[in-house]
Amino acid sequence: MDVDRVYGGNELFTKEKFLFYERLPSTQDRAKELIKSGVVKKGYAIVADEQYRGRGRFSRMWSSRKGKSLTFSLVVEKIPLLSMGTALSVVEALRDECGLWAEIEWPNDIVVSGQKICGILVEMQRQLAVIGVGVNVNETALPFDNATSIRMETGKPADRESILSAFLSIFEGNLKKENIMDSVREHLSFMNRYVEIETENGKVRGEFINLGDDGEIIIRTESGTATSFLPGEAKRVHKLDAPACR
Ligand code: BTN
Repeated sequence: MDVDRVYGGNELFTKEKFLFYERLPSTQDRAKELIKSGVVKKGYAIVADEQYRGRGRFSRMWSSRKGKSLTFSLVVEKIPLLSMGTALSVVEALRDECGLWAEIEWPNDIVVSGQKICGILVEMQRQLAVIGVGVNVNETALPFDNATSIRMETGKPADRESILSAFLSIFEGNLKKENIMDSVREHLSFMNRYVEIETENGKVRGEFINLGDDGEIIIRTESGTATSFLPGEAKRVHKLDAPACR
């Protein structure tokens, strides 16, 4: 990856704080180790061309083939709504750089036409947040159902440096904004649809009626009551084909 093509005019994510690895088990784990050892502070980006033991939410695996995808972890101050801000920035970067209309599948998957194109993992380490982002970029096939890549959607190879560069600038801008939730709401999948939320305590069904200002999903359940779940409380949200609660 050509680092010089990634950076330009950012205040937080600067070239000096860009750590690039040809091959790593996980950018997320490396970022956390480097925070522990005091090497890495806010504004660092840990980027790998190939990641062979990447982690997703709820102990899922996330691997990436050499040079095909964007796999990176960013270190920032812990502030509210980081996963929403990251998801919004991915959507905006895909729109600006690739002309793709992506959506946020709450809480933090990014999908194009219902197929997952990016996953986001936010973790804490010593008062800092580590934001892991994996974007499928130039894969021509993926070993999972319901997954896609930028290339599979546009039919053209995509430039990873330009996408990362756009993402970093957009994300830095979004971090400074007072209110991102209105923009997040504009890009949500499943709004006003019937959904099933998988929680630690089982499944809950209802109509997705809003997203609260703390990033919580608000649904109207079969009994007619509104109930909400924070991003950390839900594993996944599925759209139900038929209304389930009327
Ligand atoms: C998910 O969809 O469950 C989240 C996937 C997050 C994957 C990224 S790739 C870069 C960073 N390093 C990791 O080990 N995981 C995240």
